[in-house]
Amino acid sequence: MKIRSFDEAGAARLIVDNPPVNALSLSKGVVASLTDALRTALDDPAITHVTIEGAGGRFSAGADILDFELPPEQIEPTRELFALVAGAGKPVIALITGEAFGGGLELALACHARLCTADARLGLPEINLGLLPGSGGTQRTPRLIGVAAALDLMLTGKPVTGAEALSLGLVDEIQAVERLRSAADAMARKGVPTRAPRADAVQREELRLTLHKHARLLGRSVAARQIGVCVEAALDVPLYEGLQLESRLFHELMASSQSRALRYAFFSERAVARLPGLEQVTARPVASVGIVGGGTMGSGIAAAALEAGFRVTLTDTNADMRVRAETVISGIFDRDAAKGRITPQQAQERQSRLTMAEGYEAFGEVDLVIEAVFEDMAVKQAVLRSLEDVVRPDCILASNTSTLDLDILAAATADPARVIGLHFFSPAHIMRLLEIVRGRVSAPDVVATALAFAKRLRKVPVVSGVCDGFIGNRMFEEMLRQAYQLLEEGALPAQVDGALERFGMAMGPLKVMDLAGQDIGHKIRQRRMAEHPDRPYSIVPDILCELGRLGQKTKAGFYDYPNGRNAVASDAVNDMIRSVSAQRGIDRRAICDEEIVERCIFALINEGAKIVEEGIAARPLDVDMVWLNGYGFPRDRGGPMFYADELGLTYILARIRSFEKLSEGWAWKPASLLVTLADAGRALRSLDTAARISV
Ligand code: 3HC
Repeated sequence: MKIRSFDEAGAARLIVDNPPVNALSLSKGVVASLTDALRTALDDPAITHVTIEGAGGRFSAGADILDFELPPEQIEPTRELFALVAGAGKPVIALITGEAFGGGLELALACHARLCTADARLGLPEINLGLLPGSGGTQRTPRLIGVAAALDLMLTGKPVTGAEALSLGLVDEIQAVERLRSAADAMARKGVPTRAPRADAVQREELRLTLHKHARLLGRSVAARQIGVCVEAALDVPLYEGLQLESRLFHELMASSQSRALRYAFFSERAVARLPGLEQVTARPVASVGIVGGGTMGSGIAAAALEAGFRVTLTDTNADMRVRAETVISGIFDRDAAKGRITPQQAQERQSRLTMAEGYEAFGEVDLVIEAVFEDMAVKQAVLRSLEDVVRPDCILASNTSTLDLDILAAATADPARVIGLHFFSPAHIMRLLEIVRGRVSAPDVVATALAFAKRLRKVPVVSGVCDGFIGNRMFEEMLRQAYQLLEEGALPAQVDGALERFGMAMGPLKVMDLAGQDIGHKIRQRRMAEHPDRPYSIVPDILCELGRLGQKTKAGFYDYPNGRNAVASDAVNDMIRSVSAQRGIDRRAICDEEIVERCIFALINEGAKIVEEGIAARPLDVDMVWLNGYGFPRDRGGPMFYADELGLTYILARIRSFEKLSEGWAWKPASLLVTLADAGRALRSLDTAARISV
């Protein structure tokens, strides 16, 4: 039963009951049942008005995204329902609690009035799926609250609270949850409010200014541009014509590659936590967390865990570090409070769950300990061994290592099955990605607990097997190899980074290394060159280190940073790169953006496929979620694996084979998985399980 209904005080109460989020599903019959229930109420002379609400304290998260796979003609019933609501001869009033998102809010907008609780959340997040609000949102929202506020809602996709919605004019009244129905009855008796139309000339100027404000987004997002077109139409044409235009553009967007990629990202971010093989495994309960090390990582992890409601005990043998960590953590919460993200009381409550301690004895009762000490095998092994002496036998021991072999680390303990890697990315309380490194003998319930813990931190957890660099850094290494190579062949840093940023990467790889610190890259290269002397690196980044150009922290790396953060091309570095080419006898040539993008991105794709083939990542979608959430890969391209499928594996393979003929061709050995899939005419996506969607 997806719609429950009963009559009360002359009102028909219609309740959408489609857990977990009350999506207005076509395939599950929600739209049809709601239409039937509404028709019955409208035909019943004893009913004076209708209220619509959502079960479980949630109005509706909108259209069922899984329905987007249906052929367009099967989406007709939604239009019928919305027309019935808007044209009803009796007042139809939406009672909003929890979320009213997308089609859920559009349903409320089609109603004659809206009442909501102060903490409800209302939004039109379709842009996050590469779509526009397709059930009247682009037409009714500007008519109700004006073009500027409507565009802000639709272009940012960010929700507003009930209280904010009232001041925007999106809802008519705020009420306590238990008063919603009676207030709606009173409103129906009095007559629902009407609004005066807005002055046209002001609206046009607001449209121009707001589109200008969002110019960068409009340059990239097809959906954003179409939202602009629809909102402009709302000023020019009658509602029914605007609705027709909106519907046509919605269907066009649905077929766009940006929307396919964004929908894939939405479901994949949820599918990553459903790792095949762990379906029947129960996670251990975690209420308290121990952290070893009060450095940047330890403090950030502590802040993330406190924010998620855990009790946290942080130890550092160094008293100064303990003071520093406590100050850093309270600073994070104070800033959140100052920005209005949380109340001062919430900040205080979070801080009150933190205990600082000197030694490990404080960990006697914790459920999980994460070590975030110096990145050195012997140091970390000693920490894990000491922890074993004090923690409970069922306490999970996690390492935040980013480079060390977890199996060797775990082997130092008496019970390696309870050891796992939790590779947080800096700043740990902000970055969404968490690589969970599963050792050869990590127990399945330890992995399941790590996944559940990560979900509570609101991270995107991706399970990686043990290998050098895990999923993310191992792939980044191959991108960097190409970037350095391109410098020697004829490109300059600003061109390499610029081409990749225009492709959509949040930051070019050379700027990333300037941010991370060139000395870190140097250390990793030294180790890898000792391990694989047959795989030489460009000497360009090493010369930077010799020159003391360690990146942003020394205000000089591949670029100059005269005011700290903004990269400015450096003539000295560009000359150095030219002289390296000359020394190596390379005739520098003009290199186009397309070659830069193909070599850097296809290197990622090839390595990602090897990672899937070796079982380091369970599925291609796991690789993609690492890159979307930790490495700034453009979300509207889905991730390297999704992008490979979009271009076609046959094409990718042909290009990889042509790169094999380059001077460092050994780096381009094609992944056998790519060869097998391309030969069979299959896509990487065909290997995704538990993804719930096939875009
Ligand atoms: N359709 C189908 N499934 C949905 C859904 C939707 N609109 N929204 C959420 N779900 C599913 C999720 O995939 C997840 O499934 P799983 O448990 O099998 O992985 C489950 O519901 C719970 O979702 P979350 O894990 O995200 O739960 P949270 O409580 O953290 O968040 C939420 C709930 C805030 C509603 C969040 O899910 C959300 O933001 N959903 C997307 C809302 C959205 O984008 N709506 C617009 C849809 S497009 C539209 O309406 C078009 C219209 O204009 C025509």
